[in-house]
Amino acid sequence: MPSFDVRPVPPSPDALAALRDLLIGTVANGGSVSFMHPLAPDQAEAFWNNAFAAAGRGERVILGAFDGDHLLGTVTLLLDCPPNQPHRAEIAKLMTRVDQRGRGIATALMAAAEALAVARNRTLLVLDTATEDGAAPFYSRLGYTRAGEIPDYAFKPLGGLTGTILFWKRLPVSDGTTAH
Ligand SMILES: CC(C)(COP(=O)(O)OP(=O)(O)OC[C@H]1O[C@@H](n2cnc3c(N)ncnc32)[C@H](O)[C@@H]1OP(=O)(O)O)[C@@H](O)C(=O)NCCC(=O)NCCS
Repeated sequence: MPSFDVRPVPPSPDALAALRDLLIGTVANGGSVSFMHPLAPDQAEAFWNNAFAAAGRGERVILGAFDGDHLLGTVTLLLDCPPNQPHRAEIAKLMTRVDQRGRGIATALMAAAEALAVARNRTLLVLDTATEDGAAPFYSRLGYTRAGEIPDYAFKPLGGLTGTILFWKRLPVSDGTTAH
């Protein structure tokens, strides 16, 4: 059995520091999560402070995989969609600590985020991942459909442009069927 559990990350100073360090470490290791390396601690903290504020407004949920109080990974479910897309949500900032990868942590985080989305009556999830050094095979394995690729979309954290791949997945509605 995995020695971690998945739950919302509380907006505490300790959690802020753990998320900051996770983001800095992910970027330093080449993860394409919106930032360039080296990522300054202040910039990382500002990102998560804004994220906590958005979570407090109910616009997103920041989930963490914890071993006790120790943060191993995170994913964010973005719920703040336009008025004509109340059935949709987005997956963002999926990261597992470099020394904890390959243990099923991201898989568990994605399962929890999807369950949360279903509970919020969201029937369509979308996400994107870098073409180079991204997690496209991981998302394909989880049942996401590749919609397409946009070339030269962003800089990789250590420099050089990469494309981005868009994915989507339908979620079951509460009666167990899949929305169309
Ligand atoms: C992508 C990431 C979150 C996966 O975390 P993880 O906790 O190691 O994932 P899991 O252990 O749940 O992996 C499940 C499976 O997917 C595979 N996998 C994970 N990441 C993969 C990747 N980038 N490419 C291909 N396969 C991958 C694992 O090898 C594992 O396969 P297995 O079950 O056959 O052993 C992690 O590599 C990471 O933080 N990467 C940097 C940030 C990033 O790219 N995030 C995605 C942004 S969209």
